[in-house]
Amino acid sequence: MEPFNPLDPALAKNPYPAYAELRERGRVNPSAIGAHVLAHYEDVRRMLNDGATFQHQYVAQQKQRGGERVEDEPYFDYFRRMIFVSDGEHHRRLRKLVAKAFTPRQLADLRHKAERIASELYTVGARNGGMDFVAEFALPFPLRVIGSMLGIPDADHAEIGGHATALNPVLEFLPMPPDVLATANRAVEVLAEYFVKLAEERRRDPTDDLFSALVHATEDGDALSNEELIANAILLYVAGHETTAGGTSLALHSLHNNPEQFDHLKQHPASIPGAIDELLRYDTPGQGTARVIMQETSFGDHKIEPGNVVLGYIGAANRDPNVFATPDALDFQRDFTKARPLTFGGGAHLCVGRNLARQEFEIAFTTLFTEHPSVRVVEKGCVFRDTPLMRGLKKLPIEW
Ligand code: HEM
Repeated sequence: MEPFNPLDPALAKNPYPAYAELRERGRVNPSAIGAHVLAHYEDVRRMLNDGATFQHQYVAQQKQRGGERVEDEPYFDYFRRMIFVSDGEHHRRLRKLVAKAFTPRQLADLRHKAERIASELYTVGARNGGMDFVAEFALPFPLRVIGSMLGIPDADHAEIGGHATALNPVLEFLPMPPDVLATANRAVEVLAEYFVKLAEERRRDPTDDLFSALVHATEDGDALSNEELIANAILLYVAGHETTAGGTSLALHSLHNNPEQFDHLKQHPASIPGAIDELLRYDTPGQGTARVIMQETSFGDHKIEPGNVVLGYIGAANRDPNVFATPDALDFQRDFTKARPLTFGGGAHLCVGRNLARQEFEIAFTTLFTEHPSVRVVEKGCVFRDTPLMRGLKKLPIEW
């Protein structure tokens, strides 16, 4: 039997039948890129929660992904300092400082501004009774929201926003073709230059935003180094909008394929907050994440030696029939009290932006369904992204 190929272009369009086959084949499956693949809920959850056995070990992981010379790539020097790939004590230290800047008050303060941005984008984007939901809403909306949280002036997004998108492939644990790598390297340098200047301004003139809070965050006399500050600002900017853009585009497409649920939410926008976790379970933007095995471990009778890389498919875990009954159905009545979807990860690396993301979903769809209750998706123009782990659509025409 052919090993599973995480680079198969068919996965970017619809990975779920392949995941069902993987789960049938066994607990641990070999893959064409060397990593061992996990697709059962319990196994992916364990990988996320057991930080002693499963670590990022960024240098080792990237060498397996891009070869021995990967440390010479400009992206590497920034990414290795990012919270989402750090381990153990180093991670705990970064997380405390980043979480300190990421407060519930900031989220509450942002609500009205986010509602205004959403309404404005639907008005400006609308031409001849429709728009491309991805280009005119799903991407610019979270970009402007996280930008506003980071204190980036709206006018600057045109200059730096596209560079954030170019970093999507770096966030995936998959080999990168040379042209994609070159674009990503350039993008990280442009973004770093931008945040270095912004940090100088915030040091001189502290403001009331997340970036200023990061610049000035201290814990027991500890603070982020300049390099850590810049790297993690880039991460928040990229993670803060590409995942949400992927998620809102997938959610709207899922609703289009489930007309009864679509009509229900259009007629009862108050049900939107309760539907978000199910929409994100049903089609998940962050499909998978990788870890290095630190000590011999087993899944059932399948042993894995230290040093091996495992790729845990969150998207597959969220459709595991042992945990979610009729997993291929979109069911807003689903009860998550026994098992939560793994959409936002778990354990020490649980997504810091999860409540921001949920708030953005709520505002995006409440505004759309209230202002344009007859909205529908034009299926023939829909195109999925090419990045199978950072799942989403790159074109999604809508009309009303
Ligand atoms: C629907 C939207 C989102 C999804 C599906 C998502 C998913 C995830 C997942 C699965 C992880 C854990 C990865 C791992 O353990 O390897 C994660 C971590 C993270 N996310 Fe999100 N995320 C979303 C939105 C956001 C937003 C809006 C922000 C920031 C503004 C954000 C910032 C982060 C950061 C900084 C981490 C790393 C946390 C750590 O390592 O301690 N995410 N996210």
